[in-house]
Amino acid sequence: MSTDVIVLAAGKGTRMYSDQPKVLHTLAGKPMLSHVLDAATAIDAHTIHLVTGYQSAQIRAYFERNPVNSPLNWVEQTEQLGTGHAVMQATPAVDDDKTVLVLYGDVPLITPETLQQLRQKADETGIAVLTLVTENSAGLGRIIRDVDGQVTAIVEEKDASDEQKKITEINTGIMAFNAARLKHWLTLLTTVNAQGEYYLTDTVALACRDGCKVGSLQTHDENEVQGVNNRLQLADLERNYQIRMARQLALQGVTVRDPARLDIRGPLLIGRDVCLDVNVILEGNNRIGDRVTIGPNVTLIDSSIGNDCVILANSHIEGSKISPGCSIGPFARLRPGTELGDRTKVGNFVEIKKSTIGAGGKVSHLSYIGDASVAEDVNIGAGTITCNYDGVNKHKTIIKAGVFVGSNTALVAPVSIGREATVGAGSVITADVPDKALAVGRGRQKNITGWIRPVKNQQ
Ligand code: UD1
Ligand code: CA
Repeated sequence: MSTDVIVLAAGKGTRMYSDQPKVLHTLAGKPMLSHVLDAATAIDAHTIHLVTGYQSAQIRAYFERNPVNSPLNWVEQTEQLGTGHAVMQATPAVDDDKTVLVLYGDVPLITPETLQQLRQKADETGIAVLTLVTENSAGLGRIIRDVDGQVTAIVEEKDASDEQKKITEINTGIMAFNAARLKHWLTLLTTVNAQGEYYLTDTVALACRDGCKVGSLQTHDENEVQGVNNRLQLADLERNYQIRMARQLALQGVTVRDPARLDIRGPLLIGRDVCLDVNVILEGNNRIGDRVTIGPNVTLIDSSIGNDCVILANSHIEGSKISPGCSIGPFARLRPGTELGDRTKVGNFVEIKKSTIGAGGKVSHLSYIGDASVAEDVNIGAGTITCNYDGVNKHKTIIKAGVFVGSNTALVAPVSIGREATVGAGSVITADVPDKALAVGRGRQKNITGWIRPVKNQQ
């Protein structure tokens, strides 16, 4: 049966104390709502009905910039009159023969596997609820079962008797329905309860009254159904998620020096015998080859690192392509558009931007290389700067194979240094250098003999 997903995301998220909609706050580098939409996409949702209200324009703008791989139907809930009311806003657009899953924009870690199972239960019975047995039941709806263990109702804590409050099986909120039946039960909801809201959860008792067996599925993973109401819950969930990913990597053969000090914020492809030291951050799309060692406090963003590379402590690498056998850092900064050839060495306090460095290159200390094309086997001396910006435009520096650039050199672009040329230390190079030439662009040294140093005044 084809499945539609309704995602509730109209709530205010008051306890986030944020100008940003709650569901756009990120977990592992991705908005909570994107996690939910990805899970819905993974189970082949036909249409995702997204119920928004508070700050819906911002949410919409985000997904216009970052499209989802499933058809989205935007549904506005102008007044938040309860979860049942929220679902009512979406159901007119759902065909009767569909299975409907109700998810929450602030319950980000729900897995496709669980959704799959819940959907199956609803296909058998017309209604199914995902539950959890937990010590932390405060504020949540309790699952009421009869003597045969059959679910008969969900009672919200505010409506529960003292006896019912002791029940440790709670409603995660996530439910699945046959669409036609759901629509029927929704017409029967009332606001006669402690909160004066239309409770989606009341559909359970209504189903029972109709002689419908309510399906239930218990998850044993608290994180999967953990809702986020404030930033502390978000931080806790992030930690749990990160630890889990770090452990998974460790079990797959990555040396993770401390699973509590690794952050993965996006898709990662990683090879064999990789070592990740503490406080490594892997953001966006990264690809790491075999036998790569990454030192402490390294940030990688949208980059690919070839086999046998060593990245030393405190390096920051973004939008870069690193070939095999390179050594980078400590304290190196590679900005977007950097491409390093095989066995390149980039040392401390070197910044490279939008430049290629050919195989065997060395930029060992204190340099800025921007908008440059550097061929193979070039040595860039300490303190070399490509002066790529004239205050208005950016210009290119071209350095041919085998060049040796002496220390403290300014290469004023546009400029080109010919094959196997040498640039004397301290030069300011403003004109092209021919192949194999020595270029010296600085004042000549003058030695004054018999010069007497100033002496200190007596008084
Ligand atoms: C709901 C369940 C409760 C369950 C709990 C799990 C009901 C009546 N209760 O309670 O059994 O244990 O979730 O967290 O369903 N929302 C809207 N529009 C509305 C109301 C809510 O979009 O009019 C969204 C909120 O943004 C939120 C979600 O639905 O993401 C849950 O709403 P909330 O009011 O927090 O429900 P709970 O009281 O937590
Ligand atoms: Ca809630």
